[in-house]
Formats: sequence, structure tokens, C-alpha cells
Amino acid sequence: MERIISAKPREEDAVLDKGLRPRQLVDFVGQDKVKDNLSIAMAAARGREEALDHTLLYGPPGLGKTTLAYIIAAEMGVNIKITSGPAIERPGDLAAIITNLGKGDVLFIDEIHRLPRVVEEVLYPVMEDFALDIVIGKGAGAKSLRLNLPRFTLVGATTRFAMLSPPLRERFGAVYRLDFYGQDAIEIILERSARLLGLQADGDGLEEIAKRARGTPRVANRLLKRVRDYAEVMAQGVITKEVSLEALARLEVDSIGLDDVDHKILRTIVEKFGGGPVGLDTIAAAISEEADTVMDVYEPYLLQLSFLDRTPRGRVATRFAYEHLGLEYGKDKPEQPSLW
Ligand SMILES: Nc1ncnc2c1ncn2[C@@H]1O[C@H](COP(=O)(O)OP(=O)(O)O)[C@@H](O)[C@H]1O
Ligand SMILES: [Mg+2]
Repeated sequence: MERIISAKPREEDAVLDKGLRPRQLVDFVGQDKVKDNLSIAMAAARGREEALDHTLLYGPPGLGKTTLAYIIAAEMGVNIKITSGPAIERPGDLAAIITNLGKGDVLFIDEIHRLPRVVEEVLYPVMEDFALDIVIGKGAGAKSLRLNLPRFTLVGATTRFAMLSPPLRERFGAVYRLDFYGQDAIEIILERSARLLGLQADGDGLEEIAKRARGTPRVANRLLKRVRDYAEVMAQGVITKEVSLEALARLEVDSIGLDDVDHKILRTIVEKFGGGPVGLDTIAAAISEEADTVMDVYEPYLLQLSFLDRTPRGRVATRFAYEHLGLEYGKDKPEQPSLW
């Protein structure tokens, strides 16, 4: 089944993103703290005519990390080169990219937590001293050469802050965490997207989409696109509340945006493991999903809703999860062993 709410980027997003991605910080909705700090940092760097400090953006998928990297480059008036952790397999791959950077340019490394160790080690002096140490030749005749690089800005993005090694983390001058968006911010994003796509949509129609967008702009835009398709075929293209509800009902997303995988995760914890605690790998195996997907794509929003708790012994379903599933809380729990 197609997973509309999975915030992992997909091919269809490329086209949608191109048209809808905000290009300036003023068009970037929400995340006020990040925007404030970032705009001060950028203004200061521009004032000193220096490159912006290396910047790390982290948070769940679909919240605007890549968008911010583009905005940073645009607002600093520099070029941006895009790559990702897994794409840089050897130090040579990194060298090829960074020797092509100009002064002040942005190098964006997506999924930076997936950089191979050997590459990471080459990156330390690059970030710190703007120097690239390369080894030429092999064995006894090998020579080490130090190349000086222009001062540039590394922008890293990750969904897994904890997986970044401390030495890499420490080399970022600024670290920004993106949070899920509130319903109001998502509605503003949807209004903007509807305008850019030339859609006729009323506030109530967009509100229903916003409720199911999991606080995630990427999901909001995808849902909007589906509702638009439905509206075009069934309602002369006008997105009203009724049209939204009918279209959304077909997408197998529930009233708060959870899909069948979310439901499976919660039901597994509740029904198979008495509400938990149960380990992530066990949950993933029980529902035949990858543990990484569960952790990166599904869990963050369930945690945000307080449907799940992370404990040292594993995941626990909360009262809210039971209530949402229409189950009685505590019914499946084994009796607490009494002390006496
Ligand atoms: N703050 C925002 N305001 C408006 N649109 C946004 C915002 N953040 C993200 N988007 C939209 O969501 C899409 C996904 O954002 P993206 O930057 O690719 O997320 P990430 O890199 O964190 O996975 C973008 O194409 C953009 O259209
Ligand atoms: Mg991205």
C-alpha cells in the first residue's frame, strides 16, 4: 500500500518541492526560534564578510532541513553544493567536492550521520582549519600534502542527532533542532501552497488537511495534492470541507493523521506485549518494518502525541494511545506484583 504519511522523501516530492519550497527565510513558516537565531547569525557573517559558521540542522524528516540549507545559500548570496553522507564513500569523493567550493559557498551534506568513518576523519581538519590533508602514493614513498581551502560553510542535516560522533558535533558552530509544526503553521503552509498551485480552497477544507498532516509540511503538501486531484475530478476543483473529508477518507489516514503502520505499532505494543515495555527491534520485527523506518519516520510523531514513551526497557504505550484506539487502558496490563 502507498504510504502517504511517511515523511521520507520520495520521487514525486521532487516536482512538488521545486514549486513549493520557500526560497527566503521570510517565507519559511514557523520554527521562529531557529529563524531568529539563523537570521542573526547570517546578518553577522554578512556584516563581517565572512562565511557563516558550520551549521547542523536536525529533526524528523519533512520538517524543512533541506529547504533551510537552500535558504541559507540564497540569503548569503553564495553557491550551494548538495551531497549526502552515504554518497561520499571515500576521502577522495569528499576531496573532489570540496576542492570545487568557492569562498563562502555552502556544502550541504544530507544524512550526515551516515558518513563513513574514514571520511569523517578527513572532514575534521577541513571544518576546523579549512585544510585538506591528502596522501599521495603508497607505502614508504607516500607523501602527505596539505591543501588550503577557501572558507566555506558546511551545512549538515540529520534525523539522528544521537548517531553523530561527538567530535563531528563539536565542529559545528551552530546547531538547530526543527520541531513538528503546530496546526496553525501547517494551515499557513497549506494556504501558501494552495495559492502557488492556483487552487481554490476554503479555510475549513485546508483545516481538515492540516489536522492529518502530522505537524509535517511535506505530508501537508502531499495530502493537499491528493485532495486537489479528488476535487478536480469530483468537485470542479474547489476544496471545501466536504471535499477534503471525502478525499482524505480514501487515503486510509485516520482523524489525526495516523496510518495503518502507526496503528500496527500501537496495537503490537498493546495487544502482543501488554502495553510494553518492548524493544524497538521486537516491534519492527512483529510488523515487518525496518527498525530504522519505525524509529525515524513513525516514532517521532507518536512520541510527540504522547502516545508512546521511551523507557530504558523499551517502548510503552500510554493511556492516550489506548484511548485513540478505543481500548480500555490497563486492561491488558499484568497485575503489578504486590510487595507482600
Ligand atoms: N517552514 C516551512 N514553510 C513552508 N514550507 C515548508 C517548510 N518546511 C518545509 N516545507 C515544505 O516541505 C517540503 C519538505 O521540506 P524539506 O526541507 O525537504 O524537509 P527535510 O529536508 O527536513 O526532510 C519542502 O519542499 C517545502 O515545500
Ligand atoms: Mg531533506
